[in-house]
Amino acid sequence: MSRSLHRRDFLKTSAALAAYGALPAVGRTASPGSKLRTAHVGVGGMGGSDLRSIASHPQVEVAALCDVDSARLEAAAKLFPQARTFRDYREMFAAMGDKVDAAAVSTPDHTHAPAAMTALNHGKPVYCQKPLTHEVHEARQLRLAAAEKDLPTQMGIQVHAHPAYRRATQMIQDGVIGKVSRVLAWSNKNWGYDGPAFTKFDEVPETLAWNLWLGTAEERPFKKSVYHPGSWRRLVDFGTGTLGDMGVHIFDTPYRALQLTAPLWARTTCREPTGVGHPEKNTVEYEFPGTQYTTSTMRWSWFDGADAPPPADKLGLPEGFKLPGQGSLFVGEGGSLLLPHVSEPQVFADGKLREVTRPEISPLNHYHQWVDACLGKGEPSAHFGYAGPLTEALLLGVVANRFPGQKLQWDADQLQVTNLPAASELLRKTPREDFAVKGL
Ligand SMILES: NC(=O)c1ccc[n+]([C@@H]2O[C@H](COP(=O)([O-])OP(=O)(O)OC[C@H]3O[C@@H](n4cnc5c(N)ncnc54)[C@H](O)[C@@H]3O)[C@@H](O)[C@H]2O)c1
Repeated sequence: MSRSLHRRDFLKTSAALAAYGALPAVGRTASPGSKLRTAHVGVGGMGGSDLRSIASHPQVEVAALCDVDSARLEAAAKLFPQARTFRDYREMFAAMGDKVDAAAVSTPDHTHAPAAMTALNHGKPVYCQKPLTHEVHEARQLRLAAAEKDLPTQMGIQVHAHPAYRRATQMIQDGVIGKVSRVLAWSNKNWGYDGPAFTKFDEVPETLAWNLWLGTAEERPFKKSVYHPGSWRRLVDFGTGTLGDMGVHIFDTPYRALQLTAPLWARTTCREPTGVGHPEKNTVEYEFPGTQYTTSTMRWSWFDGADAPPPADKLGLPEGFKLPGQGSLFVGEGGSLLLPHVSEPQVFADGKLREVTRPEISPLNHYHQWVDACLGKGEPSAHFGYAGPLTEALLLGVVANRFPGQKLQWDADQLQVTNLPAASELLRKTPREDFAVKGL
C-alpha cells in the first residue's frame, strides 16, 4: 500500500486494481485467499500473545518480527520462521517498506507512541497495546494522525469485545438502573513503587539492546528486576502505574456505556511524588460532563492497590456484601450495576440482587476485528478515535498523582491543566533526539 494513500482512496484503488487481478495486500477483500502481511514490535510477554492471536486469522502472514531482547526474538522466530527479524523498529519499517501492510506494537508503555507513530508515518494500520500511550499529548497525536491518514487502528483492550462487558454496556444504555450519577472502579493490583531512586547497577544481559529498550527515555544504567521485563510498569518514566495498567480495562466499559468525553477535573489522594515510581496505592476522583445516560454531571472514583476495593456500605448493596478485587460499580437512579472484572454484570436495588433480562451478545474476536478492517471489512471498535480520549482521561489521573490533593482543572480542547502550569508540563515529554518521531 502506498504510504500517502488514504484508506478510502486506497479501497477505491483496490477495486480498480482488482479488475486487472493485481491487488496490494491491504483491502483485498475481493480475493478471499489474499494475505495481510504483519510486522510486530515487541514479541515477548503480551507481545507473544498478540502475535499468536493476530496470526490466528487465516488471512494473516507474519512478515517481520522486532524485539530488543534477542532471546525473545528467537523464541518468536521459531514460531514464524519465514518472518524477517529486527532489533530496532526504525530499521524494520525502513527495510520492510511496502513488504508489510500493518503493524502491531506490544512494547512497554513509553515506546507505544514512538513505534505506533513510526508505523502510521509509513502508512501502516496499527494495533497498539493499552494504554494507548505514556503521555497525554501522545494519545492526542496518535488519534489525530490515524484519523488524518484514515487507517484502521485498534488499542489492545481485548475485554472491549468480551460478551459480559458488551452486555453490561447494553444494559446501562437500555436504562436498567436509570441515569447514572456515579461510577466506582478499582483494582487491588499494585503496580507502584514507593521506594527511593536505584543504586548499585547490574551488567546489561547479553541478549538485551538496552539503549533501544530505553528508546525515548533518558539514558541510565541497567538494574535487574527493575525494568525489563514487566517491572517497568511501576516507574514513572516507563509505565503508568495501576491506573494506566488495569484502569484502561476497567474504565473501558463505563466510558463506552455512558458515552463519556473529557473529564472536567481530576484529583488524586496518594503519597507525595518521588519522581521514581507510581504510588503503591491511589484514589482518583474525576468529574465528567453529563451525557444522555448520566445525571447532569457524573462522578468517577478510582481506587487501586491497598485502597481497593472501596468500602461497600452506603452503595445500596446487600448487607455484608464483599466487592470483588477488581471491577466497577455503576450507581444509577434506579439501582446499581456491578461489573466484576471479566465477569457477568449483576444488578442490585434496595439492597437486594434483582433479576433482569440479559441481552444476547454475539461472539466477537477483538484481534480479527482489526485484521478484517485492514482487509477492508468493518471498523475496529477500540480504534484510536475511541481509545485516544479514553487514554487521555485516564492519563490525566496519572498526572494528578504527581500533585496529590490538588484538583486539576482540565481543558481538553487546549490540552491544558488550566490552574496548574506544572501539571501541563507533564502532559508531554522531550524524547532523546535519536528517537524523536515526526508527529509527536
Ligand atoms: N491487554 C492486556 O491484557 C495486556 C496484558 C499484559 C500487558 N499488556 C500490555 O502489553 C505491553 C507489554 O507488556 P508486557 O507485560 O508484555 O511487558 P514485557 O516487558 O514483559 O514485554 C515487552 C516486550 O517488548 C520488548 N521490547 C521492549 N522495548 C522494545 C522496543 N523498543 N522494540 C521492540 N521490542 C521491545 C521486550 O523485549 C519484551 O519482549 C504493555 O503495554 C502492557 O500494558 C496488555
